[in-house]
Amino acid sequence: MKTTTRLGRRTLLKTAGATAALASAGTLVPAGFAIGQAAKVKIGLMLPYTGTFAQLGQAITDSFKLAVEQRGGKLGGREVEYAVVDDESEPAKAPENANKLVTRDKVDFLVGTVHSGVAMAMVKVARDTDTMLVIPNAGADAATGPLCAPNIFRTSFSNWQPAFPMGKVLADRGIKRAVTLSWKYAAGEESTNGFKEGFEKAGGKVVKDLWLPFPNVEFQPLLTEIASLKPEAVYVFFAGGGAVKFVKDYHAAGLRQSIPLVGAGFLTDGTLQAQGEAAQGLETTLHYGDRLDLPKNKEFREAYRKMTNREADVYAVQGYDAGQLIAAGLDAVKGDVKARKDLVKAMETTEIDSPRGRWTMSKAHNPVQDIYLRKVEGMENVVIGVAHKALADPARGCKMT
Ligand code: PHB
Repeated sequence: MKTTTRLGRRTLLKTAGATAALASAGTLVPAGFAIGQAAKVKIGLMLPYTGTFAQLGQAITDSFKLAVEQRGGKLGGREVEYAVVDDESEPAKAPENANKLVTRDKVDFLVGTVHSGVAMAMVKVARDTDTMLVIPNAGADAATGPLCAPNIFRTSFSNWQPAFPMGKVLADRGIKRAVTLSWKYAAGEESTNGFKEGFEKAGGKVVKDLWLPFPNVEFQPLLTEIASLKPEAVYVFFAGGGAVKFVKDYHAAGLRQSIPLVGAGFLTDGTLQAQGEAAQGLETTLHYGDRLDLPKNKEFREAYRKMTNREADVYAVQGYDAGQLIAAGLDAVKGDVKARKDLVKAMETTEIDSPRGRWTMSKAHNPVQDIYLRKVEGMENVVIGVAHKALADPARGCKMT
């Protein structure tokens, strides 16, 4: 596990100065009380910085820090200190990584992650240790379903959420027979289930589910099978580096003309520079679109571009909103993380002014949000409609205690 604790230079100087002043005044410093540090709120960022989701983790990190910087480097009036872990999108390493952030680094908030399997381990640690957890991507349905808890929040989506509306979009076009293809892990399975529920409810039929293990990208045999099954459409869940390769392979196989390809919007988000021609015209459903005509979106995209030299994507939006959510909570309790009840209440009731449009928390702590139908034009996912207005995850099995 790679962990770094970053203290700003100004913070260190200030701390040193304060220590010197106290020492010269002969003040006794209580044992175990690190001056300056006690005043900081500690954020544990557990995200992927290597592997197929590396860019997603970076976007979330940068935008979270942007939200903090826009508040003068503070949350709830307290300076922020980060402990950062590369989780490698590796579920086997996740319990240890999360536990170290909680027990060794003593973070006030765990923030992570991208991969649903890793997030499930974070949920368990958060529940076992009663640590505040904010999930800025991973859609694992259970996190805001059977495993929902007062200390667990999500600023992204449930895997069901962007998938379900695509079923109706296809069925409304008269499409009756579809095939699905996804990575076989929680996110791929739940996204597939969401699509299937929406599609079959609206009169369609999924004739076959095709799978490959995460993060495998050997798509060729599966594309051959799709060509022989001849469905009227293919629904997929892929993201990050894997999505880039899949879209290019689907295009190269010559399937674009004969079998429409659709998916949850991760297929074409943060990936368009690398997908280029192969992605043009692809339609997906997601809770964000690049050119959403909202002042907050324009302002955010400009600030993010200035900070990173990159274009914002859905991951950046979710990371930014994780920062905004924690800020709302800590502002309400003036930085006192021990005022847990009031902190949670503030996070539950705040309305987030997001680049995706304003959204609120469901009772299960998952965003209630519009799901857009988008189409790739050039290097942008352009919103061409609203596939489902103010969609809440059904939160099956959630009993908030
Ligand atoms: C997930 O594992 O939940 C996941 C990963 C990447 C995405 C979306 C969901 O883009």
